[in-house]
Amino acid sequence: MLQASLVESLAANITLTEKSTIIDLGTGDGWPSLPLAHIRPKSHVLGIEASEQRITQSQKNLSTSELTNVELVAADITTLPIQANTIDGIVASFALEEAQDVMQAAQEVFRVLKAGGFLRFIHQVWNLPTPYVETISLIEGATDSQTLVPLLVHTIRQQNPNREIRTVLVLDSSNNTSELHQKLLTKSAQLPSQYGEALLDELSSEAIFTEKIVNNLEKLKRDLFTYETKRYTTKDLVNLLTRIGFTNIKNTKIPVVAADDYPEIRKGSKDLFQVASRKLGKLDVLGEGVITANKSNSAD
Ligand SMILES: C[S@@+](CC[C@H](N)C(=O)[O-])C[C@H]1O[C@@H](n2cnc3c(N)ncnc32)[C@H](O)[C@@H]1O
Repeated sequence: MLQASLVESLAANITLTEKSTIIDLGTGDGWPSLPLAHIRPKSHVLGIEASEQRITQSQKNLSTSELTNVELVAADITTLPIQANTIDGIVASFALEEAQDVMQAAQEVFRVLKAGGFLRFIHQVWNLPTPYVETISLIEGATDSQTLVPLLVHTIRQQNPNREIRTVLVLDSSNNTSELHQKLLTKSAQLPSQYGEALLDELSSEAIFTEKIVNNLEKLKRDLFTYETKRYTTKDLVNLLTRIGFTNIKNTKIPVVAADDYPEIRKGSKDLFQVASRKLGKLDVLGEGVITANKSNSAD
């Protein structure tokens, strides 16, 4: 349901009746490319994704649908393999701000858009409750050979500078490790959660991730790496788009779904998507979460 309303929101600037070419930046497993193509059947949707694994998955997802108006392309959004001034609209879901060089990605968007074209994207609202948030999550990750391995991901989210630092401990796939991973997962689930991850404070981290366990993990280590991502507040993103030359920049809220509506809608049905938009009414409430911008008609 939330998915349906988000897709409707992203499709707000795409007409139902006219042909248009739409790019979905960083489509991942095909979202929102596939549902968007479904609700805008006259449009041609081009999903761009850098990860080969995710392109393979999105191709699989596409092949199980009956869609004929989607193309999935392995490419980097900072160097789009697309001619200038050819695209009617660009959408993205939690992807534009993930690019290593967000400025360059936004410049590429501006380059390929036709004059009068639009950019509409859902972004991660970087608005920390405190200057420093530390979390841990125990998840599984796929290796290059597609085997699943247990991971322990430690994340620091920080203001000034706005950034996220992740340290990923990749464990081996022995039974012992799986057991320990499961035990830690159960324990961490008892911690308060933030961003869907277990929130660490000094006391709980000490109680749960004792030195003994950490030492144990160290022995089961297959790999360990850290990466840092620059993060953007909504204001940063609006400023960046303004500098590039976008006009009519609006910051709107991710649609909030009433619990009552929840059982009515299922992903994948055109009729139900229409019901969704009727029930939700106008989706672009003032707030934060979805940014819309235009390449003005006077730009060359
Ligand atoms: C948070 S995921 C969002 C995926 C999908 N749009 C969704 O909402 O489920 C961000 C996606 O952007 C892709 N991505 C990040 N940087 C990219 C780049 N420079 N070029 C192309 N894709 C990129 C990632 O591989 C990932 O699939």
